[in-house]
Amino acid sequence: MTTSRAEAEVQQFVASTPKSKSLQDEAAQYLPGGSSRGTAYFAPYPTFVDHAKGHYVYDVDGNRYLDFMINATTHVLGHAHPDIVAALQEQAERGNSFSGPTEAQVRLAKTLCERVPSVETIRFTNSGTEGTMMAIRGARAFTGRHKIAKFEGGYHGSHEYVSVSVRPAAADLDPDGTTPVPEHPAQPPSVADDVITLPYNDLETCERIIRQRGDELACVIMEVVSSSFGYLAGDLDFLRGIRALTEELGIVLIFDEVQSFRVSAGGAQEMFGVIPDMTTFGKIIGGGMPVGAWGGRRDIMALFDPTEGAPLAHAGTFNANPMTMAAGEVVMNHLTPEVYERMNTLGEMLRAKLRAVFDELEIPAQVTGVASLFGIHFTAEDIVDYRSTLTGDGDMTKALFTGLLNEGILIQTGGAGALNTLTSEADVDALVDGVRRVAQRVR
Ligand SMILES: Cc1ncc(COP(=O)(O)O)c(C=O)c1O
Repeated sequence: MTTSRAEAEVQQFVASTPKSKSLQDEAAQYLPGGSSRGTAYFAPYPTFVDHAKGHYVYDVDGNRYLDFMINATTHVLGHAHPDIVAALQEQAERGNSFSGPTEAQVRLAKTLCERVPSVETIRFTNSGTEGTMMAIRGARAFTGRHKIAKFEGGYHGSHEYVSVSVRPAAADLDPDGTTPVPEHPAQPPSVADDVITLPYNDLETCERIIRQRGDELACVIMEVVSSSFGYLAGDLDFLRGIRALTEELGIVLIFDEVQSFRVSAGGAQEMFGVIPDMTTFGKIIGGGMPVGAWGGRRDIMALFDPTEGAPLAHAGTFNANPMTMAAGEVVMNHLTPEVYERMNTLGEMLRAKLRAVFDELEIPAQVTGVASLFGIHFTAEDIVDYRSTLTGDGDMTKALFTGLLNEGILIQTGGAGALNTLTSEADVDALVDGVRRVAQRVR
């Protein structure tokens, strides 16, 4: 890639977003980096959103973007779906949060328990971060062990124990193994000491490590479809192997389905036929409102049951707030088998067409993803785990992201994205053509 061509994309972006630039300058006076969400920042500054409708986002400068970011896969029905808007309006008029439970919470819980094979009972939170935190807490109490295992490069939210080896720099990686790398300066060393990191898709090494450390391990937490590797699906034998091993050693297996739950009615666990002990949720189940959840085996979840004297407390002023529950219920009702089928078929088509474009242009690239999710990596190497993602050309990924903004298309900064129920074949082609044009310009 020539830097000057990538720079031309940035210049074009800057020329078309003056209002965002001035809002960013103002925001930076009051918010570090002008933001409340580190991952929403990108250089030279993010577009400030004015509004969004359907599968388009409109920025404050009047630019329109075909949205494949959809708030990190959340808006599976598109933005401001009329049924969600109506449900929120109706609930807002009846009160938007209470200290007591509501019927809406029972309905959404029932739907999720009926749909997801591993989930016998469930609890709601306000974020996926809280969901993974509580699932880990439950696994610790259930097993009486306190160490956890996660995968190198795996993201499970921003609480402490999952903030180990999330995005370690290549220079910090142990060539001889997946030694845990603290994510933050001055993170207590005890945190990394209590986290064992594993290499994704490498069953042999995982088995060796898990067998060695099994009697210390409360849980293994993982994604079946790895978001940070461009929605890479785990190899089936690998997933089955981890399931068998954790079952044999009495280790709680937690599938983080905060993102992957959108691949089928029962999530990735149903699609791959590998059933964990506990599952965590977020994103789509709240219809665009703040949400998270964790659920699973009744005997583990019983540790949170206040009618049984609950050894584990779980508080939260806004847990299962009726606005979120009402919006989530609308989403679940819309996601019928036919809808998944259609979205997933278009996802398959998109990935095939993207591969064809890179072949045609002779650009070394890998296209990952399953169902309605996709990821683009500019590397000749197969993507199998975190280390293989590091072989990607990061400058090219940045240039693709900025170039697509200039084409009126929004994807994730890391080159990944998601379809939604409004996505048509023409939208797929618009993205593919946009990628072709940008790749031709910046290569
Ligand atoms: C796989 C996964 N787990 C957990 C989380 C944390 O969810 P939240 O941002 O709602 O705290 C995310 C967020 O992107 C995620 O992708």
